[in-house]
Amino acid sequence: MLDDEDARELLKSLKAPKELVDHCETVRDVCMEVIELLKERNPGIKINKRLVSVGALLHDIGRTKTQGIEHGVVGGQIIRGLNVTGSRELEKIARICERHIGGGITREEAKRLGLPPGEYIPRTIEEKLVAYCDNMVDDVKGSPVVRDPTWAVVEYEKRHGKNSDAARMVRDLNQFFEKLLGG
Ligand SMILES: [Fe+2]
Repeated sequence: MLDDEDARELLKSLKAPKELVDHCETVRDVCMEVIELLKERNPGIKINKRLVSVGALLHDIGRTKTQGIEHGVVGGQIIRGLNVTGSRELEKIARICERHIGGGITREEAKRLGLPPGEYIPRTIEEKLVAYCDNMVDDVKGSPVVRDPTWAVVEYEKRHGKNSDAARMVRDLNQFFEKLLGG
């Protein structure tokens, strides 16, 4: 099983630039804060905190190879190719990588984007958390800035149009957490 230090070592071994590491660390920190709020407001909620932490640190590992939208899929390939024990957990981390972009990528959208056939939509609470928190971290001249969750909605609507799949997925993901957080 991978822990945070393994994840950091892996980023280093793939020569992840400082801005990428800072981004991933910030997404991880935001995830940890949101988990505390979720637990406070939903006693008994089950979240694999360690998986979220490692997944947040590694969600953008694909960016060590490509900056395109396929970095999610590439990240999944990197994780599955690791020579460590615990293949079930590796699969969970790989899915976090593949499903973290925006609020997820529908099958139709994936096809249009030229990604391997399939849908890349966060399903587990751990997958959703990483995508949700990643959407709050804006990178301004190489430095991470934490924004309000609605920021991503505005950005996606601007970039893809209000009625686009991409914007809808981000809105749905935010709504999921708003309900749990009582926002
Ligand atoms: Fe990413």
